[in-house]
Amino acid sequence: MCIMRVREMDIELYRNYFNTLEAGREPGWQYNELKPCGVNYNSALCALWYDMHHGRFRDFQKEGKEIIALLGLDTDQTVIDMGCGTGAFAVHAARHCRKVYAVDVSRAMLRCARRKAKKAKLNNIEFHRGGFLTYEHEAKPADAIVSTAVLHHLPDFWKLTGLRRLARMCKAGGKLYLFDVVFSFNVDEYKSHLDEWVKSTAERIGPAFAAEVKTHVREEYSTFDWVMEGMFERAGFAIEKANYQNDFMVAYLCTRKGESI
Ligand SMILES: C[S@@+](CC[C@H](N)C(=O)[O-])C[C@H]1O[C@@H](n2cnc3c(N)ncnc32)[C@H](O)[C@@H]1O
Repeated sequence: MCIMRVREMDIELYRNYFNTLEAGREPGWQYNELKPCGVNYNSALCALWYDMHHGRFRDFQKEGKEIIALLGLDTDQTVIDMGCGTGAFAVHAARHCRKVYAVDVSRAMLRCARRKAKKAKLNNIEFHRGGFLTYEHEAKPADAIVSTAVLHHLPDFWKLTGLRRLARMCKAGGKLYLFDVVFSFNVDEYKSHLDEWVKSTAERIGPAFAAEVKTHVREEYSTFDWVMEGMFERAGFAIEKANYQNDFMVAYLCTRKGESI
Protein backbone atom coordinates (compact mmCIF):
# COMPACT_ATOMS: atom_id res chain seq x y z
CA MET A 1 0.00 0.00 0.00
CA CYS A 2 2.78 2.34 1.09
CA ILE A 3 4.89 1.47 -2.00
CA MET A 4 1.85 2.13 -4.21
CA ARG A 5 1.41 5.56 -2.61
CA VAL A 6 5.09 6.45 -3.11
CA ARG A 7 4.86 5.34 -6.77
CA GLU A 8 1.77 7.48 -7.29
CA MET A 9 3.62 10.48 -5.83
CA ASP A 10 6.62 9.75 -8.06
CA ILE A 11 4.43 9.61 -11.15
CA GLU A 12 2.75 12.88 -10.18
CA LEU A 13 6.15 14.55 -9.66
CA TYR A 14 7.40 13.39 -13.08
CA ARG A 15 4.13 14.44 -14.71
CA ASN A 16 4.40 17.95 -13.24
CA TYR A 17 8.05 18.15 -14.21
CA PHE A 18 7.38 17.26 -17.84
CA ASN A 19 4.36 19.57 -17.97
CA THR A 20 6.54 22.43 -16.77
CA LEU A 21 9.14 21.65 -19.41
CA GLU A 22 6.44 21.48 -22.06
CA ALA A 23 5.04 24.87 -21.09
CA GLY A 24 8.46 26.44 -21.73
CA ARG A 25 11.01 27.38 -19.13
CA GLU A 26 10.83 31.14 -19.55
CA PRO A 27 9.25 33.30 -18.38
CA GLY A 28 8.94 31.58 -15.04
CA TRP A 29 5.67 33.41 -14.27
CA GLN A 30 3.70 31.98 -17.21
CA TYR A 31 0.65 30.00 -16.08
CA ASN A 32 1.05 26.38 -17.18
CA GLU A 33 -2.28 25.57 -18.80
CA LEU A 34 -1.04 22.14 -19.88
CA LYS A 35 -0.97 21.00 -16.28
CA PRO A 36 -4.47 19.90 -15.24
CA CYS A 37 -6.20 21.53 -12.31
CA GLY A 38 -9.06 19.72 -10.60
CA VAL A 39 -10.40 16.92 -12.79
CA ASN A 40 -7.48 15.38 -14.68
CA TYR A 41 -8.48 15.50 -18.35
CA ASN A 42 -4.96 14.42 -19.30
CA SER A 43 -5.80 10.94 -18.07
CA ALA A 44 -6.65 8.42 -20.82
CA LEU A 45 -9.23 6.81 -18.57
CA CYS A 46 -10.96 10.11 -17.89
CA ALA A 47 -11.08 10.83 -21.64
CA LEU A 48 -12.48 7.40 -22.49
CA TRP A 49 -15.09 7.70 -19.78
CA TYR A 50 -16.03 11.30 -20.60
CA ASP A 51 -18.84 10.85 -23.16
CA MET A 52 -20.62 8.21 -21.12
CA HIS A 53 -20.17 10.21 -17.90
CA HIS A 54 -21.42 13.51 -19.36
CA GLY A 55 -24.01 11.71 -21.48
CA ARG A 56 -25.90 11.02 -18.26
CA PHE A 57 -26.99 14.64 -18.06
CA ARG A 58 -26.15 16.17 -21.44
CA ASP A 59 -27.58 15.72 -24.90
CA PHE A 60 -24.55 16.54 -27.07
CA GLN A 61 -26.57 16.50 -30.32
CA LYS A 62 -29.15 18.94 -28.99
CA GLU A 63 -26.44 21.22 -27.55
CA GLY A 64 -24.60 21.29 -30.88
CA LYS A 65 -27.75 22.07 -32.82
CA GLU A 66 -28.69 24.92 -30.47
CA ILE A 67 -25.22 26.48 -30.58
CA ILE A 68 -25.05 26.34 -34.40
CA ALA A 69 -28.49 27.98 -34.61
CA LEU A 70 -27.56 30.66 -32.08
CA LEU A 71 -24.36 31.50 -33.96
CA GLY A 72 -26.10 31.33 -37.33
CA LEU A 73 -23.14 29.40 -38.78
CA ASP A 74 -23.19 28.46 -42.44
CA THR A 75 -21.11 26.33 -44.79
CA ASP A 76 -18.76 29.19 -45.76
CA GLN A 77 -17.74 29.91 -42.21
CA THR A 78 -15.05 28.83 -39.79
CA VAL A 79 -15.24 28.16 -36.07
CA ILE A 80 -12.72 27.57 -33.30
CA ASP A 81 -13.74 25.14 -30.58
CA MET A 82 -11.53 26.11 -27.63
CA GLY A 83 -11.25 23.18 -25.20
CA CYS A 84 -12.94 20.79 -27.62
CA GLY A 85 -12.67 17.82 -25.25
CA THR A 86 -13.75 14.59 -26.97
CA GLY A 87 -14.99 16.57 -29.98
CA ALA A 88 -18.78 16.32 -29.76
CA PHE A 89 -19.33 19.95 -30.80
CA ALA A 90 -16.45 20.01 -33.31
CA VAL A 91 -17.84 16.97 -35.14
CA HIS A 92 -21.34 18.42 -35.15
CA ALA A 93 -20.09 21.84 -36.34
CA ALA A 94 -17.97 20.29 -39.12
CA ARG A 95 -21.18 19.20 -40.85
CA HIS A 96 -22.45 22.80 -40.86
CA CYS A 97 -19.44 24.94 -41.62
CA ARG A 98 -16.36 25.06 -43.82
CA LYS A 99 -13.71 24.42 -41.21
CA VAL A 100 -13.42 23.71 -37.52
CA TYR A 101 -10.27 24.34 -35.48
CA ALA A 102 -10.57 21.98 -32.53
CA VAL A 103 -8.13 22.94 -29.77
CA ASP A 104 -7.44 21.29 -26.43
CA VAL A 105 -4.57 21.03 -23.96
CA SER A 106 -5.17 17.32 -23.37
CA ARG A 107 -3.66 14.77 -25.73
CA ALA A 108 -6.02 12.11 -24.37
CA MET A 109 -9.14 14.19 -25.10
CA LEU A 110 -7.81 15.11 -28.56
CA ARG A 111 -7.23 11.42 -29.33
CA CYS A 112 -10.92 10.68 -28.64
CA ALA A 113 -11.97 13.71 -30.72
CA ARG A 114 -9.80 12.63 -33.68
CA ARG A 115 -11.26 9.14 -33.49
CA LYS A 116 -14.79 10.56 -33.54
CA ALA A 117 -14.02 12.73 -36.59
CA LYS A 118 -12.45 9.77 -38.42
CA LYS A 119 -15.45 7.58 -37.70
CA ALA A 120 -17.74 10.33 -39.05
CA LYS A 121 -15.48 10.57 -42.16
CA LEU A 122 -14.96 14.30 -41.66
CA ASN A 123 -11.84 15.93 -43.04
CA ASN A 124 -12.58 19.60 -42.34
CA ILE A 125 -11.48 19.59 -38.69
CA GLU A 126 -7.95 20.72 -37.78
CA PHE A 127 -6.89 19.48 -34.37
CA HIS A 128 -4.39 21.42 -32.31
CA ARG A 129 -2.87 20.76 -28.94
CA GLY A 130 -2.93 24.07 -27.06
CA GLY A 131 -5.27 26.30 -25.18
CA PHE A 132 -6.48 29.80 -24.39
CA LEU A 133 -2.94 30.91 -23.57
CA THR A 134 -0.86 28.95 -26.06
CA TYR A 135 -2.85 28.21 -29.24
CA GLU A 136 -1.66 30.28 -32.22
CA HIS A 137 -4.40 30.72 -34.80
CA GLU A 138 -2.46 31.01 -38.03
CA ALA A 139 -5.46 31.04 -40.36
CA LYS A 140 -7.68 34.08 -40.99
CA PRO A 141 -9.68 35.24 -37.96
CA ALA A 142 -12.59 32.87 -37.40
CA ASP A 143 -16.27 33.73 -37.88
CA ALA A 144 -17.11 32.26 -34.50
CA ILE A 145 -15.56 30.80 -31.38
CA VAL A 146 -17.17 28.28 -29.06
CA SER A 147 -15.93 27.23 -25.65
CA THR A 148 -18.00 25.07 -23.34
CA ALA A 149 -17.05 24.19 -19.76
CA VAL A 150 -13.40 25.20 -20.16
CA LEU A 151 -12.61 28.76 -19.01
CA HIS A 152 -12.90 27.86 -15.31
CA HIS A 153 -9.57 26.03 -15.67
CA LEU A 154 -7.81 29.40 -15.63
CA PRO A 155 -7.42 31.79 -12.67
CA ASP A 156 -9.00 35.19 -13.27
CA PHE A 157 -5.92 37.07 -14.45
CA TRP A 158 -5.30 34.37 -17.06
CA LYS A 159 -9.00 34.21 -18.00
CA LEU A 160 -8.84 37.81 -19.20
CA THR A 161 -5.54 37.20 -20.97
CA GLY A 162 -7.07 34.14 -22.65
CA LEU A 163 -10.24 36.00 -23.67
CA ARG A 164 -8.19 38.80 -25.20
CA ARG A 165 -6.23 36.22 -27.18
CA LEU A 166 -9.56 34.74 -28.35
CA ALA A 167 -10.74 38.18 -29.43
CA ARG A 168 -7.69 38.47 -31.68
CA MET A 169 -8.58 35.13 -33.30
CA CYS A 170 -12.13 36.28 -34.06
CA LYS A 171 -13.12 38.63 -36.90
CA ALA A 172 -14.82 41.95 -36.03
CA GLY A 173 -18.56 41.27 -35.75
CA GLY A 174 -17.84 37.55 -35.19
CA LYS A 175 -19.53 35.61 -32.41
CA LEU A 176 -18.36 34.00 -29.20
CA TYR A 177 -20.50 31.38 -27.47
CA LEU A 178 -19.13 30.62 -24.03
CA PHE A 179 -20.78 28.29 -21.57
CA ASP A 180 -19.25 27.79 -18.14
CA VAL A 181 -19.70 27.27 -14.45
CA VAL A 182 -20.02 30.81 -13.08
CA PHE A 183 -21.24 31.73 -9.59
CA SER A 184 -24.22 34.08 -9.40
CA PHE A 185 -25.48 33.37 -5.86
CA ASN A 186 -25.21 35.67 -2.86
CA VAL A 187 -21.65 35.13 -1.63
CA ASP A 188 -22.67 35.42 2.04
CA GLU A 189 -24.76 32.29 1.53
CA TYR A 190 -22.12 30.30 -0.32
CA LYS A 191 -22.16 27.33 2.06
CA SER A 192 -25.85 26.54 1.62
CA HIS A 193 -25.68 27.12 -2.15
CA LEU A 194 -22.66 24.86 -2.63
CA ASP A 195 -24.11 22.14 -0.36
CA GLU A 196 -27.35 22.26 -2.30
CA TRP A 197 -25.47 22.03 -5.62
CA VAL A 198 -23.60 18.91 -4.48
CA LYS A 199 -26.80 17.35 -3.08
CA SER A 200 -28.93 17.98 -6.15
CA THR A 201 -26.12 16.73 -8.42
CA ALA A 202 -25.87 13.51 -6.41
CA GLU A 203 -29.64 13.01 -6.72
CA ARG A 204 -29.90 13.86 -10.43
CA ILE A 205 -26.67 12.46 -11.81
CA GLY A 206 -25.05 10.31 -9.14
CA PRO A 207 -22.25 10.32 -6.54
CA ALA A 208 -19.36 10.32 -9.04
CA PHE A 209 -20.45 13.61 -10.53
CA ALA A 210 -21.22 15.05 -7.09
CA ALA A 211 -17.59 14.29 -6.19
CA GLU A 212 -16.51 16.16 -9.33
CA VAL A 213 -18.57 19.15 -8.25
CA LYS A 214 -16.67 19.20 -4.93
CA THR A 215 -13.34 18.99 -6.79
CA HIS A 216 -14.53 21.78 -9.06
CA VAL A 217 -15.26 24.17 -6.20
CA ARG A 218 -12.11 23.25 -4.27
CA GLU A 219 -9.51 23.17 -7.05
CA GLU A 220 -10.81 24.88 -10.19
CA TYR A 221 -11.39 28.59 -10.81
CA SER A 222 -15.05 29.40 -11.35
CA THR A 223 -15.61 33.09 -10.78
CA PHE A 224 -18.48 35.54 -10.24
CA ASP A 225 -20.99 36.60 -12.89
CA TRP A 226 -20.00 40.26 -12.53
CA VAL A 227 -16.31 39.40 -13.00
CA MET A 228 -17.14 37.46 -16.17
CA GLU A 229 -19.28 40.26 -17.55
CA GLY A 230 -16.51 42.82 -16.93
CA MET A 231 -13.97 40.55 -18.56
CA PHE A 232 -15.91 40.17 -21.82
CA GLU A 233 -16.16 43.94 -22.05
CA ARG A 234 -12.43 44.39 -21.41
CA ALA A 235 -11.54 41.62 -23.85
CA GLY A 236 -13.34 43.35 -26.74
CA PHE A 237 -16.62 41.40 -26.70
CA ALA A 238 -20.12 42.84 -26.25
CA ILE A 239 -22.54 40.50 -24.47
CA GLU A 240 -25.69 39.97 -26.58
CA LYS A 241 -27.34 37.39 -24.34
CA ALA A 242 -26.53 35.95 -20.93
CA ASN A 243 -28.60 32.92 -20.11
CA TYR A 244 -28.21 32.23 -16.38
CA GLN A 245 -29.59 28.69 -16.19
CA ASN A 246 -29.25 28.62 -12.38
CA ASP A 247 -26.79 29.91 -9.74
CA PHE A 248 -23.95 27.95 -11.35
CA MET A 249 -24.37 27.62 -15.11
CA VAL A 250 -24.40 30.37 -17.67
CA ALA A 251 -24.26 30.61 -21.45
CA TYR A 252 -23.05 33.88 -23.00
CA LEU A 253 -23.47 34.91 -26.59
CA CYS A 254 -21.13 37.77 -27.44
CA THR A 255 -20.14 39.78 -30.49
CA ARG A 256 -16.56 40.77 -31.17
CA LYS A 257 -16.44 44.56 -31.13
CA GLY A 258 -14.79 46.38 -34.02
CA GLU A 259 -11.96 47.99 -32.02
CA SER A 260 -8.48 46.55 -32.35
CA ILE A 261 -7.07 44.73 -29.34
C1 LIG B 1 -15.20 19.75 -18.99
S1 LIG B 1 -14.22 19.45 -20.41
C2 LIG B 1 -15.23 20.24 -21.67
C3 LIG B 1 -15.02 19.61 -23.02
C4 LIG B 1 -16.01 20.07 -24.09
N1 LIG B 1 -15.87 21.47 -24.41
C5 LIG B 1 -17.42 19.78 -23.67
O1 LIG B 1 -18.23 20.71 -23.56
O2 LIG B 1 -17.73 18.60 -23.46
C6 LIG B 1 -12.91 20.60 -20.20
C7 LIG B 1 -11.87 20.52 -21.34
O3 LIG B 1 -11.07 21.70 -21.29
C8 LIG B 1 -9.73 21.33 -21.57
N2 LIG B 1 -8.88 22.42 -21.04
C9 LIG B 1 -8.49 22.65 -19.77
N3 LIG B 1 -7.77 23.78 -19.69
C10 LIG B 1 -7.73 24.30 -20.95
C11 LIG B 1 -7.15 25.47 -21.52
N4 LIG B 1 -6.46 26.33 -20.78
N5 LIG B 1 -7.32 25.69 -22.83
C12 LIG B 1 -8.03 24.81 -23.61
N6 LIG B 1 -8.58 23.69 -23.12
C13 LIG B 1 -8.44 23.43 -21.81
C14 LIG B 1 -9.59 19.98 -20.90
O4 LIG B 1 -8.49 19.26 -21.41
C15 LIG B 1 -10.92 19.34 -21.24
O5 LIG B 1 -10.89 18.68 -22.47
